[in-house]
Amino acid sequence: MSGIIVVGTQWGDEGKGKATDQLGGDVAMVVKFNGGNNAGHTVVVDGESYALHLLPAGILSPNAIPVIGAGVVVDPDALFGEIEAMEARGVDCSRLVVSADAHVIAPYNRSFDKLNEVALGAGLIGTTGRGIGPTYADKMNRTGLRIQDLLDEDVVRARVIQNIQSKLRGFDPEEIPAEFKADFDIDATVAALVAYGERLRPLIVDSSLIVNRALDAGQKVLFEAGQAAMLDIDHGTYPFVTSSTAIAAGALAGVGVGPTKIDRVIGVAKAYTTRVGSGPFPTELHGEAGDHLRELGGEYGVTTGRARRVGWLDLVVLRYANRINGLTDIALTKLDVLDSFETIPVAIGYEVDGVFTPEIPVFQSEFSRAVPVYKEMAGWNEDITGVRRFEDLPQAARDYVTFIEDEVGTRISTIGVGQARDAAIVR
Ligand code: GDP
Ligand code: IMO
Ligand code: MG
Repeated sequence: MSGIIVVGTQWGDEGKGKATDQLGGDVAMVVKFNGGNNAGHTVVVDGESYALHLLPAGILSPNAIPVIGAGVVVDPDALFGEIEAMEARGVDCSRLVVSADAHVIAPYNRSFDKLNEVALGAGLIGTTGRGIGPTYADKMNRTGLRIQDLLDEDVVRARVIQNIQSKLRGFDPEEIPAEFKADFDIDATVAALVAYGERLRPLIVDSSLIVNRALDAGQKVLFEAGQAAMLDIDHGTYPFVTSSTAIAAGALAGVGVGPTKIDRVIGVAKAYTTRVGSGPFPTELHGEAGDHLRELGGEYGVTTGRARRVGWLDLVVLRYANRINGLTDIALTKLDVLDSFETIPVAIGYEVDGVFTPEIPVFQSEFSRAVPVYKEMAGWNEDITGVRRFEDLPQAARDYVTFIEDEVGTRISTIGVGQARDAAIVR
């Protein structure tokens, strides 16, 4: 037993990359288990900032093996692009391995993702346009292409024909913008995917086997989530979610390990809340207040560059994330971003049609009209970026932290006070 799962507790971008990187020096493997290059994890090491999408944050820990697990969807174009960009910056990517069972994002799924959002009404979900949803749909439909399938041209051709034909069924060919047309060309797609299969061949592993062997040998393995609880396909704000299991259970299914191998589940929580894309967000701040917090936190997407929606901390969301993940502890991030406020509202519950609830309403229509009930916490109004011990934080900042612990019922084990790897208070 030495499995540690790192998950997002809000709507993504909580700082999972940094939390994973901080533990990376201590572990044998860092395994990505869900999602794909829709993720954007920024990690700052020695003043250098790295934006990771498909690569696990373990790529920056020379002693850890970075593993892309079976539950991930892999765009080979994006993968090799990211590897080349990292190697150009001197980051060794030769340790990377990829599960034979991970599914492949084919070019037609990337285009279909974008076309679909347009066809359904511009920006309905606000996906990242990386082909995530269509690729998981093919997987569930049992027409998907796994990494190992790329090694057999006949399989590739049969599935490409099947998938392209079914995707195009709803579209008038005249409606497809010229820029996407090449992605639906059968011969070109087959050739590209087979060529990627050859490049991937040396990286292919049985992710379940190598991860279980490491765990059985007593080594520590870190499972790094993409996305977060509220974006989870089953437990998030459906349909405004991603298409994978982003909660702790996803690490088990997405890699092939049993729950008995896990002894720690760390929920990463931002000291306030952000969301990219559409969907309900009860504590969202609009107008100048929102702009101010967005600027303080530098809340612009790593993957799409979109301005993130921002709002106050929502303890209803954290309580829910705690429950569905079975958290052992919380890594609180970006506390320093709140350094300049007189008071800081924190949602302790919602009022739905005049009735107070401390839990997420079972019906999403109620969640969509939930009005947050805030407790006003005192601000600390001083720079905490240099603090490294809990007892050196201002009293109001300590109260903010312990209030969250009491309300959520889980210990906060680290507190982020800046972007750098060491800008954290470990308790
Ligand atoms: P992820 O997707 O969960 O890995 O999070 P992102 O990387 O998308 O967004 C988190 C952002 O906050 C990144 O730019 C991090 O470098 C930054 N960050 C993480 N922890 C802290 C912190 O404690 N303080 C500050 N100021 N920035 C942080
Ligand atoms: P990390 O790992 C924040 C959002 C998109 C969109 C919805 C569906 O960096 O926290 P998709 O392309 O997955 O089909 O988009 O999910 N989304 C994220 N938001 N952080 C992410 O990843 C996200 N990955 C997807 O904005 O609303
Ligand atoms: Mg992110």
